[in-house]
Amino acid sequence: MVPLNPQKSAKEVVGEAAAALVESGMILGLGTGTTVDYFLTALAGRIQSQGLVIKGVATSMATAEQCEKLGIEITTLADHPELDLVVDGADEVDGQFRLIKGGGGALLREKIVAAAGRKVVIIVSSDKLVERLGATFLLPIEVMPFGYFATLEKVARHGCQPFLRMTEDDEPFLTDNGNYIIDCKFPQGLEQIESLHASLSQIPGVAEIGLFIGLCDQVLEGCADGTLVVHEKNELF
Ligand code: 5RP
Repeated sequence: MVPLNPQKSAKEVVGEAAAALVESGMILGLGTGTTVDYFLTALAGRIQSQGLVIKGVATSMATAEQCEKLGIEITTLADHPELDLVVDGADEVDGQFRLIKGGGGALLREKIVAAAGRKVVIIVSSDKLVERLGATFLLPIEVMPFGYFATLEKVARHGCQPFLRMTEDDEPFLTDNGNYIIDCKFPQGLEQIESLHASLSQIPGVAEIGLFIGLCDQVLEGCADGTLVVHEKNELF
């Protein structure tokens, strides 16, 4: 537990704490979302003030644009198939370090990048730590537009109600990969998570599932009062 920092938001606290883990020479995976934006800002600050030399693989176009603005050098998995450190946010985290991700629609690239990481650090505010995944947040699944309705019906057979994610203009939301997202409501939350993931993965047309299992090594939790709590792997909350 790190001392209180009431002037800072929980997201800012974890963003700065994650930036402090970065060492010069590292190749990073750079997640997506509002929490990661604080990490990128703090990282850019260290690059400028301490001459830190790093490169990062962005998990979304939004993150790549943000990096360009902040002067963070971008690289690719083709050049660096293994990453020293991946920092990303999450929508929910359970006590076994399993995650729901994809609220921002970047889950496919985020999972590829997380799987390339030697160490994956997830930065969240306290409200994202849950006893059961999916009890409040819907599970996002990225699907191919072709035949998506048939895909959606097969997903629904897993005991959930799937909704096609729409934009404010009432068009289907498109991911950076040109795919759709379906958000799935499980009335009791997710059960038998590993077998659910395996079964959903078998459905033709499913590009990726926003369930991350075995892809998180450390969780940095930011509390509303500015306290930072560090959770190590497989530590139950
Ligand atoms: C994007 C994600 C984000 O990490 C997740 O939605 C959390 O975002 P935020 O930090 O804005 O709450 O998975 O696909």
